[in-house]
Amino acid sequence: MALATNPRRWEMGGAEAVFALCILSRKMKLLLPLLLTLLFHEAAADEIIGGEESKPHSHPYMAFLKIKDHRSLYHCGGFLIRRDFVMTAAHCTGHSITVILGAHNITKREASWQTLNVKHQFPHPEYDPKSYINDIMLLKLEDKVKLTTEVGILPLPSTFNSVSPGKLCQATGWGMTGIRAPASDTLQEVKLRLMDPINCKVYKAFHEKLQLCVGNPKSIQPAFEGDSGGPLVCSGVAQGIISYGRTNAVPPSVFTRIAYYRPWINQILKSN
Ligand SMILES: *[C@@H]1O[C@H](CO)[C@@H](O)[C@H](O)[C@H]1NC(C)=O
Repeated sequence: MALATNPRRWEMGGAEAVFALCILSRKMKLLLPLLLTLLFHEAAADEIIGGEESKPHSHPYMAFLKIKDHRSLYHCGGFLIRRDFVMTAAHCTGHSITVILGAHNITKREASWQTLNVKHQFPHPEYDPKSYINDIMLLKLEDKVKLTTEVGILPLPSTFNSVSPGKLCQATGWGMTGIRAPASDTLQEVKLRLMDPINCKVYKAFHEKLQLCVGNPKSIQPAFEGDSGGPLVCSGVAQGIISYGRTNAVPPSVFTRIAYYRPWINQILKSN
């Protein structure tokens, strides 16, 4: 990797690649695998491939994040954890973020939608954009949402309630539905198995204590790269945040292990 010999350029390229993880645009997406292959040889996760459309409003905690950065508009997934807080990935930061809750088809406004601006972004202070370590962020909303049938809170695990390999969980997002396919209008979901950490040794920066290794590479189940920032839900609890995977969407993918971050999360929630 020639770029690595120039740290500054590496860093800039890295940051750009990370921002691209969430969907920049349909055209950009075609360039993305190449870009990321050059830079990392791994890519951030931003698509659900081979998942199926969710029953409308069956995941009322799902948040669609519209993120404005310097020159671009992109999106990420996220999920409601308190009436005024959404959780997502730290690589989903931007100049300003708007959150849509209560949506199914993101191009079709419904009475169930609640659109709120983000008042403050709290990316993890030790988030590292080069390794994706500590890829977790809390978003304080400008108002409290109204809890309805279509908008609800997803419980978080306690520090000691982390999950073990073998468990079947579910990821959701508005990511892409095929390697070269456009992003989906409607919320998609896919079942994914938690893997033994050994399966993620292909990722140099994988850290078992901080991350989950998700998706069986041998499974005939669809490959997956969900929307960055979206949740991995196991037995009704948010255990992971979609962080990154391979460009070709071959599992496994890496998710932030939420339980590890409970002390930090509690501290932010308590003082805001
Ligand atoms: C989403 O809504 C748009 C606008 O009404 C519609 O054209 C499109 O077909 C819908 N997508 C799906 C997958 O139903």
